[in-house]
Amino acid sequence: MMDNSTVINIGLMGLGTVGGGVAAALSGNADAIKRKTGRTVRLRKALVRDAGKVRNPAPPAGALTTNPEDILADPDIHIVVEMMGGDSPAGEYLERALAAGKHVVTANKEVMSRRGPSLLALAQSQRVNLLFEASAGGGIPIVGCLMSQLLANDIRSIRSIINGTTNYILTRMARHQTPFADALAEAQAQGYAEADPTNDIEGIDAAYKLSVLGSLAFHRPIPHHAIYTEGISRLGPEDFRYAAELGYAIKSLAIAVAEANGSVQARVHPALVPEDHLLAKVDGVYNAVEVTGDLCGQIILHGQGAGRDATTSAVMGDILNILRSMGNADGPPPLPLPDGGGGNSEARIWPIDELASAYYMRLTCADQAGVLAQIARILGDGNISIATVIQKDTDPGSGTAQLVITTYPAREADVQTALAAVAELGVVASVNNLIRIEG
Ligand code: NAP
Ligand code: HSE
Repeated sequence: MMDNSTVINIGLMGLGTVGGGVAAALSGNADAIKRKTGRTVRLRKALVRDAGKVRNPAPPAGALTTNPEDILADPDIHIVVEMMGGDSPAGEYLERALAAGKHVVTANKEVMSRRGPSLLALAQSQRVNLLFEASAGGGIPIVGCLMSQLLANDIRSIRSIINGTTNYILTRMARHQTPFADALAEAQAQGYAEADPTNDIEGIDAAYKLSVLGSLAFHRPIPHHAIYTEGISRLGPEDFRYAAELGYAIKSLAIAVAEANGSVQARVHPALVPEDHLLAKVDGVYNAVEVTGDLCGQIILHGQGAGRDATTSAVMGDILNILRSMGNADGPPPLPLPDGGGGNSEARIWPIDELASAYYMRLTCADQAGVLAQIARILGDGNISIATVIQKDTDPGSGTAQLVITTYPAREADVQTALAAVAELGVVASVNNLIRIEG
């Protein structure tokens, strides 16, 4: 058994935005770590792609490597901290680390979404920890909450803003009329965006995170590929203006709801959120996760969802928890995933067609008599009841205007069918956007 005088060696895979923050915290906070855990930690190796890059802070002498074997095959490395991102090779490295009996900490939502159940089963059989707090919500401690403090609850729903890059872009567009491309470049410069920012903008990153959180909340795998995912790239500046006039903010929401029949709604898409709702007030890189459980009622956790320091907080929390549990002869406690009573078969995810929601639609139409009547007839025939109509931005040059329609709750399939018919009308130049209204 390991005694307290043993130095705990860390193998860090990735030394970018988050890995760099973790390396700095391991050296800068060494005394506090010793005080809080009784353990001395050392960064023994740091894996990168390019050994020639200038690093700030510079890793300890001799620590930098481009060879993963220097970490995976080193029996003296006790904890592997994976901060590389992407499914492969990170996923294979994590499997090997666990199989070799090393504890693992990861911030990788893609790996945890795709391979979480098998990696957790491997960790359990090897009696080592696999912790992943930073994989969803950045600095917000939502993963730990779902795995321990909220475990007694029957979780009914999660409604969240869980992509910092997207929320940063939407806030800049709404508040400062910043063009989309400029707002994205700012988020990248701050270190918020994924290596491929398409994952942020198209909702893929949020779907991975929702898969992780939903699986923990509902105790059965929520496969990311079954989650309905829609990005933010169709939103135009006029959508923010019109939404504000109607009393709404536009946010990209990640929603998972446990339905009474055992199926699960799981979807990521832009939504109009009433201005007085807490989620409408979550701005910039901040994220928020609203959890509703049978015992706790509604809880909202709010904090920075991306960025070096906030994410380092979550990763270091996992490392300190492992340090505190090391030497415990019983090994880590059983994990509540994938089978905490719900069975380990994948949840049935609702097709989006079955959703009932209110909608905002924006059309470019001919500015002439009878247009609204034609559109209203199609919507009415499709069982879609109109709540408000406003005509905006008349353009005498082209003879067109923007028509903004909101509806009462209707079936998504009916709305899609009706809009396809509306788009065919000769008086409709384009259907520009369809956005669900939440809350
Ligand atoms: P990043 O800045 O791009 O850093 C990635 C690091 O991994 C770099 O040091 C890179 O080496 C190294 N790397 C990548 N692929 C490698 C490979 N095949 N072999 C060896 N080294 C490799 O990424 P990040 O923003 O820190 O994100 C890291 C992880 O944290 C991702 O899973 C991400 O989703 C997650 N995360 C990020 C944030 C955030 O705010 N950035 C927040 C929460 C979670 P080089 O330096 O040589 O290129
Ligand atoms: N790219 C992610 C985001 C990083 O913007 O939220 C945090 O997971």
